[in-house]
This record gives sequence, structure tokens and C-alpha cells, in this order.
Amino acid sequence: MGALLRSLEGRRVAIVVGSGGVGKTSVSAAIALSRAMEGGRVLVCTIDPARRLATALGLDSLGNSEALVPPEAFARSGLAPRGQLHAMMLDVKRTWDDLVTRHAPDAATRDRILGNRIYQQVSGALAGSQEYMAMEKLYELSTERDYDLIVLDTPPTAHALDFLEAPDRILDFVGNETARKLFAPALGAGRFGARILQVGTGFVAKTLSRFTGSDVLSDVGDFLGQFQGMYDGFKERASAVRSLLTRPEVGFVLVASPSALSVDEALFFHDHLRTAGMPVAGTVANRVTRELWPYPEPVPGGVQLAEALGGSGQGDPELAARLASTLAQHETFAHADAREVERLRRGAPGPHAAVPRLEGDVHDLSGLAALARHL
Ligand SMILES: Nc1ncnc2c1ncn2[C@@H]1O[C@H](COP(=O)(O)OP(=O)(O)OP(=O)(O)O)[C@@H](O)[C@H]1O
Ligand SMILES: [Mg+2]
Repeated sequence: MGALLRSLEGRRVAIVVGSGGVGKTSVSAAIALSRAMEGGRVLVCTIDPARRLATALGLDSLGNSEALVPPEAFARSGLAPRGQLHAMMLDVKRTWDDLVTRHAPDAATRDRILGNRIYQQVSGALAGSQEYMAMEKLYELSTERDYDLIVLDTPPTAHALDFLEAPDRILDFVGNETARKLFAPALGAGRFGARILQVGTGFVAKTLSRFTGSDVLSDVGDFLGQFQGMYDGFKERASAVRSLLTRPEVGFVLVASPSALSVDEALFFHDHLRTAGMPVAGTVANRVTRELWPYPEPVPGGVQLAEALGGSGQGDPELAARLASTLAQHETFAHADAREVERLRRGAPGPHAAVPRLEGDVHDLSGLAALARHL
């Protein structure tokens, strides 16, 4: 077992973060698979997995429901887990709905919010919504279920901070900060709700109603009013969710590709996690091009290469030349990758895994097992 998996051994939650396309979903599933192979009861909560990976995990059904990866699926890949692997897909909209249901003071309020068109349009699309709902779901799962390990895949954030700031953004939204600014001229100070309609003289309200009709405006008013009543509940919940992220049984796994930009991003995230007191379990450099030429001197030219490899040098000199130049080019890529991997290791000391670029995509259980062997 590699250093990263060992570092996760004592933990109950792994949160896999990194910039877009670096391999978060694959690494999350591989970590979960590996713990299940060792005998754990594991859940991986994925976000928008590639179709084939979803199928391999038995995730063709709806989101937000946990499903056991069937033993036959393992058998087909020649794997015999000692534990259990469960998988689910995060459904952002349904997680929002659950939150509203949890905080609404009564069934009537709940139904009014869930049926409100502004809520339906805005909730899923809000900046930070996916990130926060992932954390929210994690909180729910970790407090209400008894998995040995929950692995949380995270959405492709453009910037690491988007993830950490997501709770604040959602609270701003629930607390109507944005709307307060937008509608302030129309409403004056104080509470909103139906008053939007009564005032109706402000520029924003007037303009809006001209474009949208007053029923939409009443939806806005309704929405703002109802949500404001739930602010305290949301706030309390958000702070519980945030404090979960600082517990020692949690471990963040930072995934990066061996490119300057991605490593910068991972190091930036690493610093912020440290500052925020959130435990880092380790780093992963994924899809690393490996060096093939094991000697300190540079790759020689065609004929010399053929000789160095033990041939007589009498074969096809053109082919030998082409091979030599391909190898030299490969080594250039590999060296560049090695430099970035080293930068990641130094900048974020601790358990580290370098996963080579595997052949083909990682879209089935054997692919995940192959990836896990490098963690
Ligand atoms: N080590 C690897 N070798 C080869 N292919 C890989 C490797 N890791 C991941 N991949 C492939 O790269 C693609 C992106 O991986 P993945 O979906 O895990 O990234 P992601 O970070 O979750 O992306 P997103 O940010 O869009 O959610 C997938 O097709 C996956 O199969
Ligand atoms: Mg993904």
C-alpha cells in the first residue's frame, strides 16, 4: 500500500480536490475501491462521473441514492473485495430541496419555496452551489451513516478558494445579501417579502415588472421573504458543515496534473487548507509521463542508440534515428513532468503519490484498481 492510502487509513472522510480535469473523480473512486478491497465499508460520492465510469459503478439510476457495487461487477474485473463499495452521484438540486425541507418551519412554507420558480431557477445555478451541496451531503452522510470511509469527489472549481468560500456564498444568498443590494432602492431598509410589491416605485422593481410581469416579481418577493426566515437555521448548519472539515478524521487529498498551472493551484489550495486548519492527507500528481531512459547521459543519436541497446547498428538507420528522436522527445516531457512533481512534493510536504499516465481512460473497476496501485 502506498503512502497516500496509508495516510488515509485512520480517517473516516477523504475529500478529493483539484482543478478541472486533473483526475479527481478517478482518484476518489480508486481510493474507495482500494479501501473496499481491504475490507472496509466504503462510500464514494461522485460528481458528474464520465458515463462509462458511472456504469461501472452501477450508477445508472438517479442521483443522491447510495448503491452497492454488485459482486458480479467485481468478479468480471477479476477482483474479490473483502469489504463493500457503495457509490452515489451527488444531485445538487435534490440536496438543496432536502436542506429547505430540513429548515422550513412548516410544510406549507416548504411547499411554497420548493414550488417557487425563482428558487427552482436560482438554487442549482448559484455560484458555489455545487461545492456547498457536496459539503452539505458529506455532513449528512458522515453524521447519519456508519461507513468506515466516505470519499467525496468535488466539482471542478476554477479556483480552489471557490470551494472553501462556498458556505459564505450560500449564506449570502440565503440571507439575501445580493438581493438586498439589488432591491435596496426599491425597498428602503428593512425586511422584504411582499413589500416589494407594495413599494413598486423603485427603479429596479419597476423595470423588472415591465419585463417579467408582476407574478414573477411576486415570486421574488415570496422567495426572499420565506428564505429570510430560514437564515438562522442555514447559518448554524453551515458552521457545523465547516467545522466537520477541520476534524482530524477528515483528510483532504490534493490532486494535480504535472503542469505548472495545476501545481500552482494545488499549492495555493494547500496553503489555504493549512491556514484554515483543515487536515491534508496528501497530494497526488496524476497522469505523469515517466522517464524511460534510465541513464544520466542524454539520449544518443540513432545509430549510437541502436548500439547502446545492444544491436549491431546495422539495422534500419532511419528507423533507429526516428526512435532516438521520439525517445528524446519523450524524455523532454518526462523531465518537465518530474520538475513539476518535485515542486508539488516540496511545496506540500507529506504523503505523496505520482500516478503515471495509464493506457486508455480509467473507466472501469480494473482501471481504478490499476490507478489505486500507485496511490
Ligand atoms: N492516471 C490516468 N491515466 C490515464 N487517464 C486518466 C488518469 N486519470 C484520469 N484519467 C482520465 O482522465 C479523464 C479525466 O479524469 P476525471 O474525470 O477523473 O477528472 P476530474 O478531475 O474528475 O474532472 P472534472 O474536473 O471535469 O470533474 C477521464 O477520462 C479519466 O478516465
Ligand atoms: Mg470529476
